Amino acid sequence: MLAFLLLIILSIPRLFKLLKKMKQVFKIEFNYDYLLLCLMYDNDIPETATLSYFTDGDNIGVVAFKSSNMKEDKLLDSLDSGLETLLSLPLIDKFSDTNKIVYLLGEEQPLDQWVFSSDDLTKELFSDVPLDIIPLSNTISFSLSKSSMLGLYGRTGSGKTIALQWYLYQAIAKGCGTDPRSQLSIVDGKGADLFALGELIQENLGSEHISIGSSPNMLAKLAREFVDEMNSRFEIIKHQGALNADAYDLNMTPNFLFIDELASIKDECGSSKDGKNLWQEILGYLGLIAKKGRQAACHLVISTQDPNAENIPSEIRLQITSIIFLGQPSKDRLNMAFSMCDLEEVPTPPSSKGGGLFYADGLGLNEPLPIIAPFVDVKTKSDFLTIITRIAPNKDNFI
Ligand SMILES: Nc1ncnc2c1ncn2[C@@H]1O[C@H](COP(=O)(O)OP(=O)(O)O)[C@@H](O)[C@H]1O
Ligand SMILES: [Mg+2]
Repeated sequence: MLAFLLLIILSIPRLFKLLKKMKQVFKIEFNYDYLLLCLMYDNDIPETATLSYFTDGDNIGVVAFKSSNMKEDKLLDSLDSGLETLLSLPLIDKFSDTNKIVYLLGEEQPLDQWVFSSDDLTKELFSDVPLDIIPLSNTISFSLSKSSMLGLYGRTGSGKTIALQWYLYQAIAKGCGTDPRSQLSIVDGKGADLFALGELIQENLGSEHISIGSSPNMLAKLAREFVDEMNSRFEIIKHQGALNADAYDLNMTPNFLFIDELASIKDECGSSKDGKNLWQEILGYLGLIAKKGRQAACHLVISTQDPNAENIPSEIRLQITSIIFLGQPSKDRLNMAFSMCDLEEVPTPPSSKGGGLFYADGLGLNEPLPIIAPFVDVKTKSDFLTIITRIAPNKDNFI
């Protein structure tokens, strides 16, 4: 009798799988609550844990809410294959923040570009995005906690500044520059579009935690200050008492140093002794941030046309393990930029504007993925202002 009961209990997950298949055939509404209960049972997850789900067409998202119990959270973080088996669907994405772990299962979607008008960028669009995530398309998201530095490469006109602006919107929506404990620094090597946007941001969101520049001296100053901010975050983290905690575990707003067209800064430094020293000073700070910034949620986003050793010394380039290479780079440029992965079967970048290849450490990728960077169609300064004032959190939220 007991063996019979045990047999029934053990076959429950299979039964649900069968039911799910039947649902596909007979279109019976299926109750995912039971499935999640089975999952908890199968994985020894205590009944007190909370799992929930949401569906979107044929895809399902499972949300596991973290507890303060490390053992339980570890179990909740290792449901990848359990979920795949139970739901008979492949895992297509997984991300987490301080409160939850989100698993997305379903069929791979074809790559779609995100194109937004200025009205589309609402507060709600950003409100569900976890603190350490920057979504890049329907299929790809960037994890700031796993791969915190981004290199944006590509010829003039390939879309670097536009892609960088997407990161900038995300940074602002996360509170970077408005949270009094955060720092937003923007340097435009050409003193062009991004500098003008930086001025607008500063005028409207305040200049206390937002700095802009376009000269080598300004970059040196801002990078030095950024390193100081990073070091003071390490002190805060050290005094929190949590073991191995990083800034995201402590819910800190990320800091960003955006540098558009780094090579122009280098050219401006020139070949005099002072110029060379200044360039070395800048590289010293950038190297420190690239090496140590992740744990303090201090992120570098650097664009340059060509990632050759002249423009980005290899010590720094090798620390920047997330890359968007826009346009149709030659094989030797790809080998240089994506030296961290196996480039046997490099996919062809989409030929549309904003198309390129993306790779980031920590996402389990073997090779770069095709990407089309998001495009926000902003025609006027006043459109841009409307967006940033709409999406930036209120300063009072942080007090
Ligand atoms: N992701 C994109 N989707 C559609 N059009 C784009 C995209 N990125 C750039 N563009 C178009 O290409 C132009 C040049 O892009 P830009 O970012 O200034 O290039 P770069 O900084 O590499 O020189 C933009 O003004 C825009 O019209
Ligand atoms: Mg540009």
